[in-house]
Amino acid sequence: MSKKILITGGTGYIGSHTAVELLQKNYEVFLVDNFSNSHSSVLQGIKKITSKEPHFTKLELTDKEAVAAYFEDHHDLDAVIHFAALKAVGESVEKPLLYYYNNIVSLLLLLENMIAYNIPYLVFSSSCTVYGEPDKLPIKETAPIKPALSPYGNTKQISEEIILDLAKVQENFSAILLRYFNPIGAHPSGFIGELPIGIPNNLVPYITQTAAGVRDVLHIFGDDYDTPDGTCIRDYIHVVDLARAHIAALERLLNNENETSCEIFNIGTGRGHSVLEIVHTFEKVNNMILPYVIDDRREGDVEKVWADTNKAQKILNWKPQFSIEDALRDAWQWEKNYRGIKS
Ligand code: UFG
Repeated sequence: MSKKILITGGTGYIGSHTAVELLQKNYEVFLVDNFSNSHSSVLQGIKKITSKEPHFTKLELTDKEAVAAYFEDHHDLDAVIHFAALKAVGESVEKPLLYYYNNIVSLLLLLENMIAYNIPYLVFSSSCTVYGEPDKLPIKETAPIKPALSPYGNTKQISEEIILDLAKVQENFSAILLRYFNPIGAHPSGFIGELPIGIPNNLVPYITQTAAGVRDVLHIFGDDYDTPDGTCIRDYIHVVDLARAHIAALERLLNNENETSCEIFNIGTGRGHSVLEIVHTFEKVNNMILPYVIDDRREGDVEKVWADTNKAQKILNWKPQFSIEDALRDAWQWEKNYRGIKS
């Protein structure tokens, strides 16, 4: 019988791509989402790609009774992949209580119910934000955790600690924390992708919306950093590669291959690209000119980060398959499909 996997935030950007990969591997997939930052149309996209339908329930993960009722109905789940969270760094500075309440209460309720119903495995969405401005590059999982630069970042650190503390003492509970670098791109089919509500905070959706004419001009935040072209450097990873890392982590848990009750992996490509490199690669692969201006630095941005991915490659037996060119081509294909732009 196929294993039953719950994905929280299942219609979100990474959740939906992970749902596709799981359905294609014949898992029985259960999605929950409150649509606070996603659309129900994503469900049709998943179905179009896979010709399969995940189970879907609209669920508010901070609602104690609703979460308990969901688990009562779904007590035979085998594992949970937890994506659901608020993730806008700037907004988290403005509304810290909203971020702490939403991201922490939902995790606590989820864990309580997993324990109550003996659901033993969790894959958790963490972030390279826990490393802050790193002392050494590439960043290894053993690098020190730095004080968080935003309430959002702090919720990831606190969530990691909650899961680590629980896994230490709770029998029959194991977790894998995946620290993502910068997910970009879209499913190569063009049927699902990143669909930010309102003005995008992240670079690639801002680029694709500028290319689509929804935004006038891309603002590049600072060109006076200590990097070869002065713009910040990040480790950008194709969202399908990231989704597949979740499958690798999940299967490690399902097969009881994990060596400790809570393991941590960086998920990136191991290579850094500057903002200007991303802009010019986007222009090249999509054959267009992108209007941009150089603005002031954005508060809270770290100068450069990229991952040491050796641990994930060796232990999860996972490595990225897509290039930065693929990711930027797929991102534009998705934006065009979504907006009905013909090329
Ligand atoms: N950038 C621009 N213009 C934009 C948007 C971004 O120049 O319109 C630049 C940023 O200054 C940064 C780079 O593009 O140098 C990447 O920015 P993103 O907002 O796309 O990504 P971040 O690296 O800031 O954010 C990511 C994750 C967060 C996480 C954060 C930790 O999306 O979840 O890393 O640093 F918290």
